[in-house]
Amino acid sequence: MRSIELIQPKRIVFGAGCAQGWVDIAVAEGKQRVLLLSTDPIWAVLDRSIDVARQKGLQLMCLDYTWRSEPDTDMFEGLYRQCESFGPQAVVSVGGGSVLDMGKLLAALASGTQKPADVFGKNLLERRDNLLICIPTTAGTGSEVSPNAILFDKRDDEKKGIISPWLVPDLALIDPEMTCSLPPKLTAETGMDALCHCIEAYTNKFAHPTVDLYALKGIEYIYKNLRTAVNEGNNIEARSAMALASMYGGLCLGPVNTSAVHALSYGLAGKYHFAHGLANAVLLPAVMTFNMEADLEKNARMALAMGLPDKGNMRATALSGVEAIRELSRDCGIPQSLSSLGVKKEDLPELADMAMKVKRLLNNNPRELEWKEAVEIYQSIL
Ligand SMILES: [Fe+2]
Repeated sequence: MRSIELIQPKRIVFGAGCAQGWVDIAVAEGKQRVLLLSTDPIWAVLDRSIDVARQKGLQLMCLDYTWRSEPDTDMFEGLYRQCESFGPQAVVSVGGGSVLDMGKLLAALASGTQKPADVFGKNLLERRDNLLICIPTTAGTGSEVSPNAILFDKRDDEKKGIISPWLVPDLALIDPEMTCSLPPKLTAETGMDALCHCIEAYTNKFAHPTVDLYALKGIEYIYKNLRTAVNEGNNIEARSAMALASMYGGLCLGPVNTSAVHALSYGLAGKYHFAHGLANAVLLPAVMTFNMEADLEKNARMALAMGLPDKGNMRATALSGVEAIRELSRDCGIPQSLSSLGVKKEDLPELADMAMKVKRLLNNNPRELEWKEAVEIYQSIL
């Protein structure tokens, strides 16, 4: 069995209401200057704990991440300048994947010795000196437990990954109540992103039994709960299962990571500004169909984990899993074609060019996928 290293937060707290615990944790850790990064409409939920933090003597800087699009280097620079002189001893990031990623980068780059441009890629961050607490308000990216952050590089308008153990938060406070007000569309898109993390890790060329456990459980929870979370936002059981599944997906990202779905989605985000989860969701069934042949047994096991019946042969069971995920996606309101989202046939070669640049993820794919196959996959869902 191949060697593997799991780098995870020191402390993961899961449960309804746990998000408010960041104040006591900062106090207990002796952190005086706390940078709190969040965005509307989450500030309203944080009002009470902000008051408590001030009563307990914390010096608090509240930094607003105004959501315009996915995070980019210019946005990082703007936020960094606002908190540069504050010198936070703790960074608390509360929001969806974009806010968490930005908070992770602000924490790790707080000393000013490195800029995002210096650290695109793997293991290039030198250190992080502050306590980092992440509180997710979506069930999708799993960024609260992962070593990844994604940023658009405005120099060449390309989406790039920063991967480092210094981006793994010290604490993740996973509070399903924080996701209850998430609208159905965002619940669907982020939930499908979490599903991609689990499926792409489980079927990955570098899949590993330590991570397979997380991935299979995540696939089961998402398949059985995403519809309810979309249709009944206040269903705390469904929200809890989704929050946990998102965490499972995030735990897969460091040691194994994603593959072709995420690679092929880069162009859709870069050229067409699709939301991350939407881009992945549209691609998922097509990439699963392409990849299925690489390991029918694993694909069949995913279908069984979802609670589907054994069809008596692996190919039929595996296929039923792909079809069930297509149906889940449709039921959750995800558009099923690229053209319905404005993608033009003549742009498919350029999208494939962009996907080919994401070698670090394509190398993980269980089937070799070159430019021609990428175009064919886009074509199949045009
Ligand atoms: Fe993702």
